[in-house]
Amino acid sequence: MPVTAIVGAQWGDEGKGKIVDMLSEKVDIIARYQGGANAGHTVVVGKEQYILHLIPSGVLREGKVCVIGSGVVLDPEAFLSEVKELESRGFKVQGSLFISGRAHLIMPYHKKIDAAAESHSKKGKIGTTGRGIGPAYSDKAARIGLRVADLYRPDYFKSRMERAVEQKNILFEHLYKEKKVDLDEIFEQYAGYADKLKGFTADTGYMLRDALAKGKNVLAEGAQGAMLDIDHGTYPYVTSSQSIAGGVCMGLGVPPQSVTQVIGIMKAYTTRVGEGPFPTELNDSNGKKLRDDGGEYGATTGRPRRCGWLDTVVGRYAVDVNGVTSIALTKLDVLDDFDEIKICVSYKLGGQTITEMPEETVSLEKVEPVYETLPGWKKSTNDTDSYTNLPDAAKRYIARVEELVNAPVSIVSTGVSRTATIMR
Ligand code: GDP
Ligand code: IMO
Ligand code: MG
Repeated sequence: MPVTAIVGAQWGDEGKGKIVDMLSEKVDIIARYQGGANAGHTVVVGKEQYILHLIPSGVLREGKVCVIGSGVVLDPEAFLSEVKELESRGFKVQGSLFISGRAHLIMPYHKKIDAAAESHSKKGKIGTTGRGIGPAYSDKAARIGLRVADLYRPDYFKSRMERAVEQKNILFEHLYKEKKVDLDEIFEQYAGYADKLKGFTADTGYMLRDALAKGKNVLAEGAQGAMLDIDHGTYPYVTSSQSIAGGVCMGLGVPPQSVTQVIGIMKAYTTRVGEGPFPTELNDSNGKKLRDDGGEYGATTGRPRRCGWLDTVVGRYAVDVNGVTSIALTKLDVLDDFDEIKICVSYKLGGQTITEMPEETVSLEKVEPVYETLPGWKKSTNDTDSYTNLPDAAKRYIARVEELVNAPVSIVSTGVSRTATIMR
């Protein structure tokens, strides 16, 4: 299994961090291929909790190599503070953590535009994480972005930044009515980062292809989820990168045939942070119970997550578009205390029943979820590590999910810790 892709099968926060940490034990390299510090991947080891934003969750396993690929947008400030925290907690990262020289840099003006664009737009707010993600990917596509490797050619870096800053300051002055940014100040700040990032920078594309040629195993850690993918998600309420499995090749520089397994991480119910359609959202006591029992508050922004029943139209679509070979069903224990559990099996749209994800987000805003009701199990599954020990109703729930989304559930997660995992 050369490259195994780990992808979110919903709107993010499915528990990717926990599963990547589990699977890291048996691979050589763990690599992030897209997104940036908008991600918040939580891993619990013993009594310690770690929230990783940019550094792959595999960093917590000794002897593993971690890679931040070219498809990631790197905020040096966020990266260095994450490194510092890990080092202060006893992890050695120098020499085993590498950043692609091709990765684009998040600049201070990206974060400033992110915030300004959100507060400027009364309608059409996305509810971003404010980490500068959209503006950085926009500059990449517009070919005025700055890359990690550019930091080591100061004159070139400065001349490229001049163009970008000139453009941004027109926006700040005339559109957003914000203070302009100062070229020299940013240049000085980034010259400081250049020194600190030097030991981490490498041509990770070559590194990964070479490792694959030597038979090493790579885990590609996705951020966000299928429904937040820029092309295949609920546009415009999405992030700005390719979070589906197809993004692995683009964001790491590895060939498509190297990806032999795709594990879709699916929460046993659904959550979403930020704006955008969410057919199974519950604004009632069940929604509140899911939020409370599941601790559904953003790992990056602390925002309460919107909660609802499992949507298998979303699940089937995610399995389809990612080529999911098996599913890790997470947070099953959060459903322990419900008398009845609903699963959305299809939508009603204009009197018609539809079983496929509508292409247009405006249509998704109008759909009515069609539910099937299953009995709850009313027993604790928390920390269960054996399938046999699950209550029958929980087994029935898992089997029904498998049927509805057309993929086998190979991992069931029943709690935050490593041991609270059922490997089938
Ligand atoms: P990610 O972004 O996909 O890595 O997910 P987050 O870390 O943002 O959110 C998942 C949250 O659920 C974290 O707080 C995890 O510690 C927690 N979690 C993961 N798996 C389970 C599980 O099986 N049961 C429970 N109760 N919590 C879990
Ligand atoms: P992980 O990897 C959940 C959401 C934001 C917003 C939209 C765009 O932890 O699953 P952005 O800052 O990316 O421009 O915001 O995407 N979003 C996430 N939601 N989990 C994430 O990451 C997310 N990363 C971004 O809330 O709606
Ligand atoms: Mg998260």
